[in-house]
Amino acid sequence: MGGRFITFEGIDGAGKSTHIERVAQRLRERGATVVLTREPGGTPLAEALRELVLHRPMDGETEALIVFAARRDHVQRVIAPALARGETVLCDRFSDASFAYQGGGRGVDPAWLEALERQVHGDLQPALTLWLDVPAEEAARRRAAARDADRFEQQDLSFFGQVRAAYAARCAAAPARIVRIDASLDRAAVGRAIDAVLEARGW
Ligand code: TYD
Repeated sequence: MGGRFITFEGIDGAGKSTHIERVAQRLRERGATVVLTREPGGTPLAEALRELVLHRPMDGETEALIVFAARRDHVQRVIAPALARGETVLCDRFSDASFAYQGGGRGVDPAWLEALERQVHGDLQPALTLWLDVPAEEAARRRAAARDADRFEQQDLSFFGQVRAAYAARCAAAPARIVRIDASLDRAAVGRAIDAVLEARGW
C-alpha cells in the first residue's frame, strides 16, 4: 500500500511554510512517518537547479524545463521511494505551481506543461492539494517585510493575479484533489480550515 502524497500551493506570501510545518507535526502526532520536502528542490541536484531558476534571468519555457528536471530527480530519489515505503510526503509546491507560475504567470503553453508532467510523473499525482488562496494585494503586503526577493517575488501584482487565476482554474478542473483554503484569514483560522480538511479524510 502506498503512502499519502499531500502538496501545498499558493502565491508567494500566502503563508504555506507556517502551515506545512504544522500539518507535519499533526500527522506525526497521529503516528505517520512524514517526509517534509519542497520544490523546486528536495535533492542536492534539484536544490542547485532551484538556485538557477530563482536567480538567473531566463524565459518561461526555460523555467519550465528546469523545474521539471528538478522534479524528475525529486520524484525518483525522494517522493516515489517514500510513498513506496508507505510514508506520508508533504511537499511545498509541485506541478500545480508550474501550471500557475510558468503557465499563468509567464504564458507558457499549457500543452507543453502537460507533456512534461506526463513524462516526469504521469502515474503520480497528489492525493490532496491544499491551495492557500489569498488576493495578490494581501500577499504583496505580507511579502513586503521579507528580505531578498527572488525573481518571482520581484514580479508585480498583475503577475500574481495571473498566477492566482491559474490556481483557481486548476482547482475548478480538479475539485476532488485541490481544496481551496481562504488564506486571507488569520493564521489560527487558516490552521483550523486545514485541520477540518484533514479531519474529513480521517487524517
Ligand atoms: P517558495 O516555494 O515560495 O519558497 P520560499 O517560501 O522559500 O520563497 O518559492 C519557490 C518559487 O519558485 C516561487 O516563487 C514559485 C516558483 N516556482 C515556479 O515558478 N514553478 C514551479 O514549478 C515551482 C515548484 C516553483
